[in-house]
Amino acid sequence: MPIDFHTWRATRQTRAENALEQWLPAATLHPARLHEAMRYTVLGGGKRVRPLLVYAAGGALGVDIAALDGPSCAVELIHAYSLVHDDLPAMDDDDLRRGKPTCHKAFDDATAILAGDALQTLAFYILAHDAAMQAEARARLQMVETLALASGSRGMVGGQAIDLAAVGRALSLPELEDMHIHKTGALIRASVALGALSHPYHDHGIFHRLDRYACCIGLAFQIRDDILDIESDTATLGKAQGADIARDKPTYPSLLGMAEAKQRAHQLYQEALDCLTPLDTPADPLREIAAYIVERIN
Ligand code: IPE
Ligand code: IPE
Ligand code: MG
Ligand code: MG
Ligand code: MG
Repeated sequence: MPIDFHTWRATRQTRAENALEQWLPAATLHPARLHEAMRYTVLGGGKRVRPLLVYAAGGALGVDIAALDGPSCAVELIHAYSLVHDDLPAMDDDDLRRGKPTCHKAFDDATAILAGDALQTLAFYILAHDAAMQAEARARLQMVETLALASGSRGMVGGQAIDLAAVGRALSLPELEDMHIHKTGALIRASVALGALSHPYHDHGIFHRLDRYACCIGLAFQIRDDILDIESDTATLGKAQGADIARDKPTYPSLLGMAEAKQRAHQLYQEALDCLTPLDTPADPLREIAAYIVERIN
């Protein structure tokens, strides 16, 4: 029987929200303004695609759901920090995120920088500390290593550096793809890896297939983000529509045209599905997430 993806997604989103709420320091805890900014940024918004991928990848291998809450939170916290810094005046200079003022607008630049820093370290604290993960020390180290590599200069932060250097320049397709793979693909890939690493005896063949799946949907995710910047509207997106064009950012549609950008996203979706062929129905949420990524409207 096909899964009810709507319910599957809603229950995992709620689960991730509750777990994040528990891990974040109380807004009243000293230094209160910093903790308030961290909670403001993380709670009550976002699609939670990265936690969904942790739950789906772990679930495909039969991992107990409670063991996946910690890794889900860790990757979402890194993502939230990346958004706070991405929106700063020194980077994309955006005022709206997840339908509300960006962190630096609601607080101030310095608080936003510090909130981002603290969200990042909280992610690694969770991987080291969370008892519900039930992971052995070796598996935890692998998770820390995976998330650190995906987040740093060889992953997301590196991609952001490439993005900033590319403003106003015409990139070649391989250059654009390289930027997208790093700034967005790396954390999507880490999400799937963290789910898979939560299984104590993960099979290397399956792990490799899941990783290829994640590479495909990671790139497709940013292509869709570029498309929505043109085709959607600010209210639906919860962030300013047209921001890429306004800032002269190289994107898939600007380089390839809209039709070809959509075709490329769809081709990556098909490739992602092919990677899952040997996995049976437990991998259905991964299939549904792949479809969601290329069809989403926000
Ligand atoms: C936005 O990510 C930034 C990109 C990496 C493209 P999401 O589209 O996942 O943002 P939220 O978490 O749903 O707000
Ligand atoms: C952001 O890419 C990627 C990261 C935050 C790492 P974008 O700059 O395209 O994301 P949006 O469109 O502001 O969400
Ligand atoms: Mg950006
Ligand atoms: Mg941005
Ligand atoms: Mg964008």
